Amino acid sequence: MTSTRIRSADAVTAAAAGRPAAAGRPAAAEPGLSATVSGSLAAALRRSAEIERRIGEEPRSFRVLTGDRPTGDLHLGHYFGTLRNRVRLQEAGAELYVLVADYQVLTDRDAAGALGEHVLGLVLDYLAAGIDPARATIFAHSAVPELNQLLLPFLSLVSTGELGRNPTVKDEIAHARQRSPVGAVAPTDPRGMSEGKTCISSMRPVSGLMFSYPVHQAADILSCKGNLVPVGQDQLPHLEVTRLVARRFNERYPGAGGPVFPSPDALLSEAPLLLGTDGGKMSKSRGNAIALRATADETARLIRGAKTDAQRRISYDPVTRPEVSSLVLLAALCLDRDPAAVADQVGDGGAAALKRTVTEAVNERLAPLRTRRAELAADPGYARQVLREGCARARAVAVATLEEVRDAMGTRY
Ligand code: TRP
Repeated sequence: MTSTRIRSADAVTAAAAGRPAAAGRPAAAEPGLSATVSGSLAAALRRSAEIERRIGEEPRSFRVLTGDRPTGDLHLGHYFGTLRNRVRLQEAGAELYVLVADYQVLTDRDAAGALGEHVLGLVLDYLAAGIDPARATIFAHSAVPELNQLLLPFLSLVSTGELGRNPTVKDEIAHARQRSPVGAVAPTDPRGMSEGKTCISSMRPVSGLMFSYPVHQAADILSCKGNLVPVGQDQLPHLEVTRLVARRFNERYPGAGGPVFPSPDALLSEAPLLLGTDGGKMSKSRGNAIALRATADETARLIRGAKTDAQRRISYDPVTRPEVSSLVLLAALCLDRDPAAVADQVGDGGAAALKRTVTEAVNERLAPLRTRRAELAADPGYARQVLREGCARARAVAVATLEEVRDAMGTRY
């Protein structure tokens, strides 16, 4: 899912304390996208701390929109990074919309492939983690035509230059290219297709959808008028695109009843940095992640194979001992304890003892979630039913939004 994330809520609060409070919205003169992105982290940190306070006071004034690409099982990084935060916001009383971003999967993959299976798996992961379909709306891109229709007017509001400068899109394009093997067939290359032969390329072509997906994400958020988007740091540039689109739309098409779109805020949420079992970024596609739905035995096997170092004494020092510290942190998160205390307790037990502690902690923490997931999965119709109902709810909201858009644009015939 995401890469660089803000380390802890403390960082949010500290940054907020160290700087003067934001003096409202930027002035009327419209800053370009790159200017807003560079100033956005500090501003988002300040704003997040302020929003956390407001969530406590008036949770119902927030409509939260978050989502995931259905590319495989959610893992521990997702759980401690975003899932439990979503459940927290739901429990606090905010209105929660969770998007299964199925069209976004096609940004860097040629075919929908196992999409259907992944979509239902994702819904099961959500439900097992505590997202409550009676209060939250779980929906999919492909089921809400009105959301996708918003993409067209929205695309007219951003320049290709602005899209090309988005740092996260640039990163993802670079990453997708690295992943594609040399000599790989590039079936999406339009030249190859029109000439009726396959185009051999060492580079994967960048699809138009990849290039424009932050605008699609603006449609996700604005179709249901979400005003709060919990994000990792890497998603901040996308949220700036959403804010830009909302602002430009409102300026260009002032609705009779006031601006059509809210300007959504980012909520930079607590997301501890958990590494994969190989010491790299935890990722579904690298085979280094512990899936939420993994069995206790699979979990034990994965952790047993995790990378550590040669020092016997276990300590918590993420800078000099990233792999060991990530394991310590994982145990600490599962046990709701301080990482340094967990490290001390393992002490001279070495990597083997650390791994036993981590395995036990993970399996114990996830046991209720796993049981619940298995129960829910036993009725294959259930997840589908939840998704259908969510899609219907999200669609009703998107229909109403599109009506307002039609009025504002004067395209009601
Ligand atoms: N791009 C997000 C990710 O991969 C998923 C996503 C799609 C999303 N639409 C969104 C997140 C809207 C927040 C808001 O993590």
